Amino acid sequence: MLQTDKTEPKAAQTMSSTELSATLDNAQPDNDPNVLIGHLTQVRGDGFEARLLPLDSDSPVVKVGDHEVLVGQLGSYVSIKQNGIRTLALVFQDIEKSEADNSEPRSAGKSRSLALIPLGEIDEKGSFQRGIRSYPTTGAAVYTVGVDELKPIFMKFRGYRFNLGYIPTHPSLAVSLDPSALFGRHFAILGQSGSGKSWAVSSLVQRAIAAMPNAHVILLDLHGEYCWKDDQGNAHSAFKPGTVRAIDARELEIPYWLMTFSELIDLLIDRSDDGSSTQIAFLREALYVLKKKSALKLGIDNISIDSPIYFSLADLYKSFKNANEQRGDFGKKQGALFGQFDEFLVKLQSKLSDTRYDFLLKPKHRNNSESLSGLLRDFVGLGKPKSQVTVIDLSPVPFDVRPGVSAQIGRLAFEFNYWNPRNREFPILLLCEEAHAYIPRESGSQYDGTRKTMERIAKEGRKYGVGLGVVTQRPHELSETVLSQCGTYICLRITNPDDQSYVRDLVPESEGDLTNTLAALGRGEAVVMGEGAPLPIRFQIYRPDPEPNSSDVDYHKHWKDGLEDLDVENIVDLWRRQGR
Ligand SMILES: Nc1ncnc2c1ncn2[C@@H]1O[C@H](COP(=O)(O)OP(=O)(O)O)[C@@H](O)[C@H]1O
Ligand SMILES: [Mg+2]
Repeated sequence: MLQTDKTEPKAAQTMSSTELSATLDNAQPDNDPNVLIGHLTQVRGDGFEARLLPLDSDSPVVKVGDHEVLVGQLGSYVSIKQNGIRTLALVFQDIEKSEADNSEPRSAGKSRSLALIPLGEIDEKGSFQRGIRSYPTTGAAVYTVGVDELKPIFMKFRGYRFNLGYIPTHPSLAVSLDPSALFGRHFAILGQSGSGKSWAVSSLVQRAIAAMPNAHVILLDLHGEYCWKDDQGNAHSAFKPGTVRAIDARELEIPYWLMTFSELIDLLIDRSDDGSSTQIAFLREALYVLKKKSALKLGIDNISIDSPIYFSLADLYKSFKNANEQRGDFGKKQGALFGQFDEFLVKLQSKLSDTRYDFLLKPKHRNNSESLSGLLRDFVGLGKPKSQVTVIDLSPVPFDVRPGVSAQIGRLAFEFNYWNPRNREFPILLLCEEAHAYIPRESGSQYDGTRKTMERIAKEGRKYGVGLGVVTQRPHELSETVLSQCGTYICLRITNPDDQSYVRDLVPESEGDLTNTLAALGRGEAVVMGEGAPLPIRFQIYRPDPEPNSSDVDYHKHWKDGLEDLDVENIVDLWRRQGR
């Protein structure tokens, strides 16, 4: 006989055989959302195991209200009831045990057990509280949960109208996230290549600007996926016209004089070089003198080495050259720094003559301190026309300079709101695609300056209204500081066990077991964990409209009836000019 909610079974440490003999196929739903499906057999601090009641058929479906529920489906929810306490748990593993595993004899020969992650408690009024204060004991009854019961929990944040997806088993259940927690406390979108990260980013941003028309999103686009031109030169975007501004990172012209001292070191000095400490010391001195001179023209007398004040790179070169050639005593004695900067000068000279660095080292427009405000306007979407999303296309920027440019963009976002007296009323979000490429985990690399900048945003950004969203397929190569500062994790498919266990250590401890399910996710399917979601949810992300330009190359189509010839001269020309 099937028990329902109405007669709560008394708590028991061991299951009685009458309870076990109840079969699901006798289920008389009675429109009650709570159908008894099994009992707890194991209770640990971080997870439960429940044995399902014996099944007569292979498809254990019970009718819950008007819906059919496949009992024990991964990602579905169950409630555990005991002594008036209801615990909501998520099914994360379905285990079939043969008779030998069981101490008790079974009629069907096999039994099914479910591994459950407890999520929180539901009180009498049906409201949900995250976390478990009082644990059930073994023997506690496990029930199905009805959609109507889940709705208020899932849609706790529905007032924000920021719905990101739906539950595949219950498409009417929208998953709404809390935008302030998600954007304000940073988030990560993790998943292997092709799992749906770029689509998730598009959907997320589209839905954010639809729900919040004064959103300010800066999106670092490494592959030209969010704004692109087709063969005829027509512009396309993953965001509706009027909401987006696409900027070619080279045209944005973030000039060298905006770089911090430590970023300039990254660019100009090889830290592993024997003479690097002398070079660094002299760079500090020379830079300060040059900036000070410019600052006086602006009427500012107190500056730091990092102040965004124009200086001429040619003058910097001259300072180093003079010191390098300096002789005393009428040319008889060599100066203290004589010959110390040979290597530095060669390195700087080669950077200056490398056209790939022109956008950084030879700015055409931004070659005075006054040009900074225009740059910032364009950057945060306050230029003409205004836009909610600024997509900064890094794809035309040479591969090895992208980290430097990304760091600049990150730092500008941070500095902008750091110095903005109304930053709390003008929060911005910096979304970094392929973040591992420029926010590396290892220190001592060429990207130390970049990493420091992004880590600073991760640590301090929330105070100044600068949110960070990092998107990566290689979580263990991304700065640990940045990842661990994220409040919300949207995890798509991850099959690599190392990556899975890395993610497990990042997410809230009680939700760690959920990372075991990541390998089983379909495209665009995600598990969201952390503060931005009302509870950990496995869900399908809505398809973006329009879609980003991230689709896989169709080998079949193009190898079957694709191009027969190509303009190879043009390829060579583009390569030479380093412009795509
Ligand atoms: N939410 C979704 N719904 C349906 N299909 C999706 C969804 N997300 C991704 N896909 C499919 O997966 C493909 C790869 O997605 P993409 O976002 O480019 O992956 P990634 O950025 O992780 O490499 C897309 O071209 C699309 O066909
Ligand atoms: Mg992608």
